[in-house]
Amino acid sequence: MTDIFEKALLAPPDAIFGLQAAFQADPRKNKINLSIGVYKDCHLDTPILSVVKKVEGELLRSEKSKEYFPIDGDKNFLEHSGHLVFGPLWDKRIAAVQTVGGTGALRVGGEFLQQEGAEEIYLPHPTWPNHPSIFKRCRLKVVNYSYYDREKLQIDLSSLEHLKEGSFVLLHACCHNPTGADPSDAEWKKLSQLFLKKKLVPFFDFAYQGFGRGLEEDARAVRQFAEDGHEMLVAYSYAKNFGLYGERVGVLYAVTKNTERAHRAQSQFKAIIRANYSNPPRHGALIVKEILASPALKKEWERELEGMRGRINTLRELFVKKTGFTFLKDRYGMFSFCDLTESQVKRLMDEYAIYMTGDGRINIAGLNEDNLTYIAESIVSVKSEKS
Ligand SMILES: Cc1ncc(COP(=O)(O)O)c(C=O)c1O
Repeated sequence: MTDIFEKALLAPPDAIFGLQAAFQADPRKNKINLSIGVYKDCHLDTPILSVVKKVEGELLRSEKSKEYFPIDGDKNFLEHSGHLVFGPLWDKRIAAVQTVGGTGALRVGGEFLQQEGAEEIYLPHPTWPNHPSIFKRCRLKVVNYSYYDREKLQIDLSSLEHLKEGSFVLLHACCHNPTGADPSDAEWKKLSQLFLKKKLVPFFDFAYQGFGRGLEEDARAVRQFAEDGHEMLVAYSYAKNFGLYGERVGVLYAVTKNTERAHRAQSQFKAIIRANYSNPPRHGALIVKEILASPALKKEWERELEGMRGRINTLRELFVKKTGFTFLKDRYGMFSFCDLTESQVKRLMDEYAIYMTGDGRINIAGLNEDNLTYIAESIVSVKSEKS
């Protein structure tokens, strides 16, 4: 018999969680972690939102059973989620299944595409490092389109004009990870027309609704495409905007031409889920459902979300002022690409104890009053030296 454990090679650590482990093992007192994509408050903690804590307490008292959810999750949770994402466009031609976070939604969506005949998927370059890994596991060939011009320090989507007709294309709905640079509303409109002309199939990754410009504004790209009649997938995450990271709450949507197509897509999503993890976790989805179902609780959540967004925007402004990096002004969400080389990133880690991902992405929420000047001056100093 094959000795499978003898044969198994040691897998490389995950690019982002690996950095987190290195940070934790670093004995330096002044170390700063800007690598991981979680929101931090002014004490650099990632607290539970007050409204979440409140609803969770109530849930603990009232919940009578831990019975399995249906394979596609809680119906009411999906109904409220659909309204949040699609607004007035939410209807029966959109299939929706609850997933294990946004990652689970990307994975189920990728498996569906492969099953239905897709052979490859175009990802923006750069993108979230887990995207290629997810889609490769779905047995899709991963190809890139260029998203960001590192010379001009701005997005350049002209590469999309040259994709093969009918290609599957991943788009970040807002707060592009890692650059923080998003198309404008006018550019999304044009992109939507280009996608129609070239019959490109969009797969939106929507992980940061409310972290960019606002709940409605951040949904504009997805709604524009839905309104223009695209059939498409949307992978959604509640990790960031509800602070429910480890509770693993997400949704996969399929926007289709009619109810019958949506029904069939839903049935295939369910078949994929059943053979994978059977059904989704309960707790986080119940919290989201309670909050979205109550106008008063929803208001509370919106206020807390606004607080997070406001803190990120204030910090970005201060960071731009301190560094003079004006190219970071019109960026959205937690991430910003600081235009650093790999060796500059390494020097910041080795000599200044500042951790960020290898591509020079920083998490703006990891800045506070105490560390902002040190971080800004260190980055400027490393950037100004030849390396
Ligand atoms: C762009 C992007 N998509 C998806 C995800 C995954 O979210 P979740 O934690 O819900 O799986 C993340 C998380 O960092 C992300 O940055």
